[in-house]
Amino acid sequence: MKRIFLVVVIAVASTFSSKAEEGMLIPSLVKAFENDMQAMGMRLSAEDIYDVNNSSIKDAIIHFGGGCTAELVSSQGLLLTNHHCGYSQIQSHSSLENDYLKYGFWAKNKSEELTNPGLTASRVVRIEDVTQTVLFDTEGLSGQERYAKIQAAIQKLVNDAETGTHYTAKIKAFNYGNDYYMIVKETFKDVRLVGTPPNSIGKFGGDTDNWVWPRHTGDFSVFRIYADQNNQPSEYSESNIPYTPLHFLPVSMKKRTPGEFTMVYGFPGTTEQHLSSGNLKYIMDQERPARIKMREKSLSVIDASMRSSDLLRIKYASKQARIANGWKKWIGQLGGLKTVDAIQIKLDREKAYNTMAATKPEWNDKYGSVINDMNALVAKYKQADFGYSMAIEYLSVGPELFGRAREMNKFLSNYTALVERGELDAEIEKQLKSAKGFFKNYDEATDKRIFELLTEEYVKQMGDAPLPSMLENNSAEDLANLIYKKSILTNEARFMKFMNKLGSKSAKFLAKKDPGFMLWSEANTNFMSNVIPDVRTYRSLMEGLLKTYVAGKFEMFPDAKHWPDANSTMRITYGKLEGSAPHDGMQYTEHTTIDGIITKNNSGNPDYDLLPRMKELAAAKDYGDYAQDGELWVCFTGSNHTTGGNSGSPVLDADGNLLGLNFDRSWESTMSDFMFDSDRCRNITVDIRYVLWVMDRYSGAKHIVDEMTLIR
Ligand code: ARG
Ligand code: GLU
Repeated sequence: MKRIFLVVVIAVASTFSSKAEEGMLIPSLVKAFENDMQAMGMRLSAEDIYDVNNSSIKDAIIHFGGGCTAELVSSQGLLLTNHHCGYSQIQSHSSLENDYLKYGFWAKNKSEELTNPGLTASRVVRIEDVTQTVLFDTEGLSGQERYAKIQAAIQKLVNDAETGTHYTAKIKAFNYGNDYYMIVKETFKDVRLVGTPPNSIGKFGGDTDNWVWPRHTGDFSVFRIYADQNNQPSEYSESNIPYTPLHFLPVSMKKRTPGEFTMVYGFPGTTEQHLSSGNLKYIMDQERPARIKMREKSLSVIDASMRSSDLLRIKYASKQARIANGWKKWIGQLGGLKTVDAIQIKLDREKAYNTMAATKPEWNDKYGSVINDMNALVAKYKQADFGYSMAIEYLSVGPELFGRAREMNKFLSNYTALVERGELDAEIEKQLKSAKGFFKNYDEATDKRIFELLTEEYVKQMGDAPLPSMLENNSAEDLANLIYKKSILTNEARFMKFMNKLGSKSAKFLAKKDPGFMLWSEANTNFMSNVIPDVRTYRSLMEGLLKTYVAGKFEMFPDAKHWPDANSTMRITYGKLEGSAPHDGMQYTEHTTIDGIITKNNSGNPDYDLLPRMKELAAAKDYGDYAQDGELWVCFTGSNHTTGGNSGSPVLDADGNLLGLNFDRSWESTMSDFMFDSDRCRNITVDIRYVLWVMDRYSGAKHIVDEMTLIR
């Protein structure tokens, strides 16, 4: 089967034409798309992009902290990523005396660069197709037997790859188990903060502009990888030296032209292009709207609190951003999917699939029923799936009472073991420290109101599904009054008092007397016994059907462009620098300039606050040689298919030079996690020339610019 896929993909890609922007390609297979990419203007070869025996662009692309992408831009390990990707590091180095969030930070020399315990930067050494070895002799097996065989093969491959090296190997399923790839990585552990612009640049526009074009955010921060004397990864040490990369990206200072080739290289997280029509419909009609509603309720409370005082504004800033990021993305997704009538598109594609399957008895046997089966499976399990999503929104994203309960439950169920090991005191210390950190960013009245509104909504959304008896028998208001008056989980003073009297009976006390803990415990049990088993079954059955469905696409539609859904592995996507016309009568140009920063600032919205320096430099039009035709570009859009995880990814030109850093998508684009539409989907990039301008003119950190290779 596998061989057929590859041959097919290669044969097809060369016949490919104009609108080729959809898809996130595996770098080791990019050869198959070389012709198409070159037809769009690329001047690189597949080997320039990915090579195992020689250095290639791949070696400059870094998985940053496991969630974002970063890129190497100098011979001394200099690393660029987004401001929002380095945010927790920047925040952790900030204090009232050194307010790097507000004023930015630039190390004047290497000795001033700041260490970040726990932060990693990984390079992909190689990507290997191991499908045949993993699936060897599994034909005809099923269930546990098949699973065990696959796991054993994976373990052996991983051991063989890691033995005698400092690399780590991981094998991941692609195309729902039709393919397996081994990804070998080299992980650096000494990654230091070199510089960051202030929030008024790196987070300019805040939540108002999040997921929105036109955009003016200077979303970048600068790090450096350090290695030992042999250029190999090492824990932090004073004797470490800047890492010498196999490849680093030259920076393009050239004039940008709309329509020019662009390519994004990075680590996209998750896409779901193969959902059946029934599944997408369930998500659009029920799942997403309910999640949006839950978040609307909590955001209404948090936003009001944040408006009421500066203290609450600071306490809730990062929680609010996290909740609002998903909320706003989903609204954009639904809008886009409805506008293009995604369900009808899916139905048409399913019809074509079934019609094709009917043309050959062999295909009909293998693929003829799979779409019906998927839709039937959704119908059967959607309540379980919905219960899962609602539990996430209620118990994990919702009132913080529940997170506290989870934490205490974990701690107290270890109580006896901790006593036996003589580790109790140390653990109590840890708990107190973590509680202190928690309560610092917590407000009782705010959480109570969130609890009340979300409890009400949760009960309503769950309909006839089994609920914890406390929710069945009490109103949300009564529960809120009871819990937030009594529970040790919702009040710092009560919590500390409880911890001071901690003893072997504490767990029992919580379970019998603390209404907050009791509710969490009941809800958690309900979740574990009434939701989780069905969801596990559902996911594993769906995975099997998707495997068949995708295999059918490969076999029956060899002329289509096939790409595996994103799974946090390294991918390439390509398109053009271009704007879009996402609404009737509305045209988005492809770039923004510094003038727009000033216009937004004039609106008075605090998300557009600036430090005086920006206004001075903008008024003086002090653009250095970073401008194009008298304009300083800030951001631009392109038709590259990206998703979460692509933050910080380099956007490259036809020669592999750095044009900018990807950091977002336009609102109309967020549907691309389910369905890419080349007319509306655009990724948003901060132009590297603006980044350099901020370093050089704004921040006086020209020495960082001087480390890079600028192509004019
Ligand atoms: N929307 C971007 C992403 O999904 C940026 C998020 C950070 N910015 C913000 N204003 N919350 O990660
Ligand atoms: N901001 C996203 C991230 O952190 C990238 C935007 C997107 O989802 O496309 O990865």
